[in-house]
Amino acid sequence: MSKEKIIIANWKMNLSYQESLKYLKSISRFLIGLKNAIIILCPSFVSLADIAKEIRGRKIELGAQDVFWLEEGAYTGEISIRSLKEIGCKYVIIGHSERRKYINETDQMVNQKIKITLKHYITPILCIGENEEQRKENQTAKVLKDQLTEDLKQVDPANRKIIIAYEPVWAVGTGHEATAEQVNEAVLIIKSCLAKLFKNIDIDGHFKILYGGSVNQEDIKEFLNLDSIDGFLIGSASADKRQFLGIINRLKNF
Ligand code: PGA
Repeated sequence: MSKEKIIIANWKMNLSYQESLKYLKSISRFLIGLKNAIIILCPSFVSLADIAKEIRGRKIELGAQDVFWLEEGAYTGEISIRSLKEIGCKYVIIGHSERRKYINETDQMVNQKIKITLKHYITPILCIGENEEQRKENQTAKVLKDQLTEDLKQVDPANRKIIIAYEPVWAVGTGHEATAEQVNEAVLIIKSCLAKLFKNIDIDGHFKILYGGSVNQEDIKEFLNLDSIDGFLIGSASADKRQFLGIINRLKNF
């Protein structure tokens, strides 16, 4: 493998607190010796602090599945970036399609979340992607450009890293992943858009681009050969021991 791949394990709301700790214990010895990948675990908020203790000293990083867009205040039920930072989160998933769909998260909210995350030197994992209808109507390029333009409005990537996860909505949680060709096309669109948005910035130095959407142990092999992507955002398969260890084995043998 040419370079280290970023593997984000988004456990979503699939594992409870106890299940998360048990699951981590059951997979952690298999992660030893994995040299060509960075594993970023994104458990639920309530599991974060204890997962952070478990992974201390190991080559595993911690990410949150969301964050609120303001520093602090009367926002019942929300989680601040400072709390996430204090317990050791280095990454935050922002704008996941499930939040855009079920919680009506807007590009404006996403934009503010990106800004506060970067302000605290945490790396945002920005999820973008077209839905099925938009793809059928050849709107993919427009959707990606619009999302990047809105979500990264007035964002300054200097001295920071931003991860962009291309996650076509029709591929997330559906079992229908994109083809390598579709992923390559989307990455080209994303890169050219980033180059236009950030003219004086070294795009490859500041942005990493991942693919996400129904990645599993069988099909990851094809994607591992794609030089255009820096890794994967993996949902369901990352919370399934057999699948996740299958993925880890593929990485070890690549
Ligand atoms: P999936 O989810 O792998 O279950 O499709 C991907 C994601 O977390 O976005």
